[in-house]
Amino acid sequence: MSKKVLVISTSLRNNSNTDILADEFVKGATSSGHEVEKISLRNKEINFCLGCDVCQNTQKCVFQDGASEIVRKIHDTDVIVFAAPVYFGGVSGQMQTLLDRTYPLFPWKLKLEQTHRFRDVYLLTASSSQSNEFIDLVIKKVEDWIRHFSGVWVKCPESAKLAGVICGLGVHEAGEIRNQPDKIKEAYKMGEAVSVTKNRIDASQSK
Ligand SMILES: Cc1cc2nc3c(=O)[nH]c(=O)nc-3n(C[C@H](O)[C@H](O)[C@H](O)COP(=O)(O)O)c2cc1C
Repeated sequence: MSKKVLVISTSLRNNSNTDILADEFVKGATSSGHEVEKISLRNKEINFCLGCDVCQNTQKCVFQDGASEIVRKIHDTDVIVFAAPVYFGGVSGQMQTLLDRTYPLFPWKLKLEQTHRFRDVYLLTASSSQSNEFIDLVIKKVEDWIRHFSGVWVKCPESAKLAGVICGLGVHEAGEIRNQPDKIKEAYKMGEAVSVTKNRIDASQSK
């Protein structure tokens, strides 16, 4: 069954390594018949989360900007792919801001049944370092974000999970990932292999 796949590219530079991995993932997922949309944070106006908690009662952010548009898409998708480089041993500011802005999807006080449709999340990341030490913290960040949507705080009968990670190690200059054709192929294959199992919303709609 075809899935809705949302690829969010968070690096702002030209010829970004993670964006190249994202394009390959898109090609692979498209070839498998999925409905794929790729969006970039480049040229998007995105406000920081104010922490005002208004969204905790209304499920809507006080801002209507580039992030609110992306959050709506996250709400409606089956699969999320984050393309996110390592910055100072963690995620970039723009990635963190986007994650903060998903707070309307997480109205923990309301204890709603379900505030999102996605079940599978993928991460495409890159670092200058050859070692995993910085990348591990990016993976942990994404895992922690997912955990909030895994039935721990929001009632959710099926867990969301980190379904796959690609780490481009030892790539500093823009476009350098192209020198690692195995990584490019891995990103294509990962997109191609996006799971075809039904998620909860698909299943309930087909009743
Ligand atoms: C502000 C900044 C901080 C960075 N911090 C790290 C770091 O802590 N560890 C590391 O290995 N690489 C670091 N890098 C390098 C990037 O992770 C690397 O260039 C990566 O390929 C960028 O991906 P992109 O081309 O998709 O933007 C940093 C780069 C920038 C611009």
